[in-house]
Amino acid sequence: MFISFEGIDFCGKTTQINLLKKYLENIGRRVEIIREPGGTAISEKIREILLNKKHLEMCDETEIFLFSAARAQVVREVIRPLIARGCVVIADRFHDSTTAYQGFGRGLSADAVKKINEFATGGTIPDLTFYLRLSVEESTKRKNVCKADLDRIEKSDDVFYSNVIAGYEKIALEFPNRIKGIDGEKSAIEVHNDILSILYETMNIASDRRGVI
Ligand code: TMP
Repeated sequence: MFISFEGIDFCGKTTQINLLKKYLENIGRRVEIIREPGGTAISEKIREILLNKKHLEMCDETEIFLFSAARAQVVREVIRPLIARGCVVIADRFHDSTTAYQGFGRGLSADAVKKINEFATGGTIPDLTFYLRLSVEESTKRKNVCKADLDRIEKSDDVFYSNVIAGYEKIALEFPNRIKGIDGEKSAIEVHNDILSILYETMNIASDRRGVI
């Protein structure tokens, strides 16, 4: 099974991914987390180039190709072999991030983004995607609380993030069977429970049989 997590920065993906991993491992599944961009030696090097605060001159076209190059590598080197071995793969971002950030955030052509995504993934896309909804205001609040050392993309302005959110909302409507929107402003445990409910609902497993997947 291949699951991805999506949402704007500071939406709580990492916390939720770790909770889901723990849950699935407790019921006997082998789980691997892949962070995007990253997950292989080559993809981590590409990540450094992409997120480097000094690379302000990076043009949008370079950005989409680098994210996609990192993805092409992790899909073929890591994700496909893990899925073939029966592992549950949880991706901390995948191709929907490219649609939302580069397509809607940067304003690159939807047609180009779709083709580049298809080429990079080679058809390997998640079975299920959890989209953690968060407002720009809440993201900014969390950013200020944790006083994070922001990377090149996290330094983007509110207009950029509003466009990214509009992108996520659009693709959530377009692919309702795969992309499940969740209120990311609830407490971590409430979000986790929502994720488990959707997981079991999607897998068509009655709640009294929880723990069997
Ligand atoms: P992270 O902070 O969740 O590790 O993601 C790194 C940043 O890269 C985040 O700001 C979102 C951005 N990103 C894109 O713009 N496009 C993509 O395709 C991916 C995977 C991430």
